[in-house]
Amino acid sequence: MSTVLITGAARGLGLEFTKQYAARDWKVLACARKPDALKDLKGEIGYHALDVTDFKAVKALARKLSGEAIDVLVCNAGISGERGDSAQTLGALDPALWRKVFEVNTLAPLMMAESFADHVARSQQRKLIAITSILGSIANNNGGRYIYRASKTALNMEWSCLAKDLASKGVICVALHPGWVQTDMGGSAAPLTIGQSVPAMVKVIEGLKPSDNGRYLQYDGAELPW
Ligand SMILES: NC(=O)c1ccc[n+]([C@@H]2O[C@H](COP(=O)([O-])OP(=O)(O)OC[C@H]3O[C@@H](n4cnc5c(N)ncnc54)[C@H](OP(=O)(O)O)[C@@H]3O)[C@@H](O)[C@H]2O)c1
Repeated sequence: MSTVLITGAARGLGLEFTKQYAARDWKVLACARKPDALKDLKGEIGYHALDVTDFKAVKALARKLSGEAIDVLVCNAGISGERGDSAQTLGALDPALWRKVFEVNTLAPLMMAESFADHVARSQQRKLIAITSILGSIANNNGGRYIYRASKTALNMEWSCLAKDLASKGVICVALHPGWVQTDMGGSAAPLTIGQSVPAMVKVIEGLKPSDNGRYLQYDGAELPW
């Protein structure tokens, strides 16, 4: 049986990742702040309480799961930093918000990767996935949303570094953009449903080969410009 660990596993894209992998008979290590949405799901789903910005808890969970081989680690938890008062617009930037968004979107995935690299390296599939965004692309930038964009650009750089540093262990590191999706974060105007995005991402992850290490892809497997 293959094993996946998912952060932010009880809402939005993370919840659908949990459902999709459970339906494929994977063992799911579902990490979330609240278990409510996971309670009635069918399959081999183990709930682990985790706020990804509690780095002591991240390390403690890695120790608790020290016997596990984790085939796929999905660093999914994230926040937009949007709060309706232009806090990401030039002239109205909020440093406290910057720190919060960076803590969740940038620092936490790296701490997860550091803490669980050995669990992934000892598995069969060895895949380390960051759920990033096209908004982190410098080549594709059209301005605005400073904080969220920069948090995902930095996340992309982390995954590019991990791809090099973990290559000798055979770990495949990929930054994956889900598309613009109808979730609490994406909003109802988004063109993609969760049911279109997540199964497509699972298929992309399934097909990853060692030669894909260090790529920046979107949900349908298309290459994105850094
Ligand atoms: N939706 C889109 O269009 C879109 C586009 C590009 C990239 N993304 C990325 O996709 C990922 C998932 O987004 P989504 O659309 O599913 O957003 P969402 O519906 O707002 O869900 C966000 C998830 O992140 C979790 N989370 C936030 N802060 C956390 C923390 N400190 N510790 C643990 N979990 C935390 C939330 O858990 P709680 O329920 O506990 O808050 C929730 O499960 C994010 O990384 C996002 O940046 C989304």
